[in-house]
Amino acid sequence: MATAAEQIPELPHSPPAGLRPLLTDPSFSRLWRAMLVSSLGDWVGFVAVTALVARLGGGAAKGGLAVAAVMLARLLPSVLFGPFAGVFADRLDRRRVMIIADISRGVLYASMPFMPGLWAIFLLSFVIECLSLLWTPAKDASIPNLVPRRQLANANSIGLITTYGTLPLGGAIYTLLAGVAAAIGTRVAYFHHSPEFLALWLDAATFGFSAYMVWGLNLRRNAVSRVRAANVPKLNLRSAFDEAKEGYRFLREQPLVRAMTIGVVMAFAGVGAVISLGPIFARYSVNAGSTGFGYLIIAFGLGMGAGMGLMGFASRRVEKEKLFYVSMLGAAGCLFLLAAMPSIALAALFTVPMGVGVGLTWVTGYTMLQENVADEYRGRTFATLTISARMTLFLALVAFPAMAAVIGTHIVHVGGRTLDFSGTRDAMWLGGVVVVAAGFLSRAGLKRLRLARPRPLALVGRFHHEARPGVFITFEGVEGSGKGTQVQMAAAYVRSLGRDVVVTREPGGTGFGDRLRDTILNPATGTVDPRAEALLFAAARAQLVTAVIRPALSEGKVVLCDRFVDSSLAYQGAGRGLGEQDVSALNDWATQGLLPDLVVLLHVEPEEGLSRAGSDPDRIESEDISFHARVSDAYLHIAEENPERVSVVDGTGPPVEVHQRVQAALLRVLRRDAEGRTEPTS
Ligand code: TYD
Repeated sequence: MATAAEQIPELPHSPPAGLRPLLTDPSFSRLWRAMLVSSLGDWVGFVAVTALVARLGGGAAKGGLAVAAVMLARLLPSVLFGPFAGVFADRLDRRRVMIIADISRGVLYASMPFMPGLWAIFLLSFVIECLSLLWTPAKDASIPNLVPRRQLANANSIGLITTYGTLPLGGAIYTLLAGVAAAIGTRVAYFHHSPEFLALWLDAATFGFSAYMVWGLNLRRNAVSRVRAANVPKLNLRSAFDEAKEGYRFLREQPLVRAMTIGVVMAFAGVGAVISLGPIFARYSVNAGSTGFGYLIIAFGLGMGAGMGLMGFASRRVEKEKLFYVSMLGAAGCLFLLAAMPSIALAALFTVPMGVGVGLTWVTGYTMLQENVADEYRGRTFATLTISARMTLFLALVAFPAMAAVIGTHIVHVGGRTLDFSGTRDAMWLGGVVVVAAGFLSRAGLKRLRLARPRPLALVGRFHHEARPGVFITFEGVEGSGKGTQVQMAAAYVRSLGRDVVVTREPGGTGFGDRLRDTILNPATGTVDPRAEALLFAAARAQLVTAVIRPALSEGKVVLCDRFVDSSLAYQGAGRGLGEQDVSALNDWATQGLLPDLVVLLHVEPEEGLSRAGSDPDRIESEDISFHARVSDAYLHIAEENPERVSVVDGTGPPVEVHQRVQAALLRVLRRDAEGRTEPTS
């Protein structure tokens, strides 16, 4: 398996979140091309299969029944196997799951034109849907492994627009292909009877393309999930069942995940109401004839696309939690208005902002889930979301029109005006009520969560960058990452450039610090309360900053320090679970806001580092592998969030090679520093 180290050289200098860097990112653009082509193919295939069964069914009534049956065949897998789909996405190699699902779906679609009868098509549709049930959660759960956290919102916008935006194009392509197939049919008798074959083959080819794209992906999984995955028993029926149960327990116990899921699922009910009532509403409530519904769908699609596209912009201005329920309530408000409109033009006018609200809700929900759900639960979380959303949609598709029919027509005359309170409008209003309820439910859930949750890491804002003559460079990394050697080599190099260098290390570097170091690291010390540990590291650090680092910096020297605040963030914050917020606040005080000009993060995977470390482990080295995995992930996370401060250097290979890479990072800050010095005189 490729290591994260291969992916991260790009990280430190990556620009802030934007669509361009995302679409040109080699990994994400591969997945994106896979999604683009296969969703397009999927829509073409969807229309083709519908047309195929309608034709095979024969007659208007029977054809309609056949279409309903094929829809049912597509829905059934979610109901039957939904809970297990996520387990596969979490426990098996996601890349392999996607490839196998793609190739199998391709083969099934390609064979569809040769099937003897309707039942065979129902069966194939059922199996295809089972495979999609594996593919989608695996894809959703992989996105956080492909893009940095700050790009998640953009990645979701692009993903959802790609999946749903290709629908109209798919319809157009089908029409075109059916025409071409009919022309071929005049020559080849067999195809004369099945004009859908070209569209189905195209769909099959798109799945082949998608498999090829996914093949080239490198889904780096983080150290914690790798370690967990290595420790759990093999997947079998019993363990799959337990895992599914555990996924549900996770969902129940996580307030954020619960709130988001309920919100998204109920928003789907609202969408279901609009889709199912739309045609009746357009035709009978606003008398817009047979084309009216088309206008509503176009308006909705435009709005939804805009909403998804707006996400990046909006989330920079409004907190995501707020954005989520505000856009949901906004969409509900528009639904109320739209249902009350007397003409199709006015109704379409309100359908656009409703689409914007739905699009925003959707992307925000996805992004928040990806940001907050750990890798090992992500597949199940997304599977649950997808399945519940589908089932709700299906229920809504049936329930709302039924209700409209039961209520029937009610025209009220007030004064000289006619007011229409017929079933269609009432049912749409009820759909709005459902969405409003969902909005308030999510709001309450998220509010409770906010009170309990510490604020995220925001070191850049917290530690101000002070003007000082020297340069402060720290070296960080897991056990056995080779910091000691690299600090020495870096010192020799910086001296060769003619600068005064001070080398120091943490904990230690002062008489007081060295005494503390002995106490902290000696295995004989035994178990120490995490807070006590964090305070001791901070105490040693405070002394070092005052006695050694600040004086050297004020004399214009280059200070190289083996470990600093980021060690505490990774080891005590993440490893011991104290949280980044508290640890960074404590260290802000201890160092009086001193922040390095450059952090060189020597990245090696924790398993490899530990195998390099000596035979005599100290108190912290002897922690178990999952502790070190948390530390390693925390370091990468810090690097990802602070690209301007942290330079990630691949720590594998001979020390001289690693030193070459370190030199490049050093040169950048030293050059910047030298430019700063010459500026006032020139
Ligand atoms: P280090 O000097 O790297 O030890 P060694 O020379 O044996 O590699 O670091 C000492 C240990 O202290 C290391 O396991 C990490 C830990 N540590 C923390 O947990 N928090 C901190 O803030 C610091 C500075 C170190």
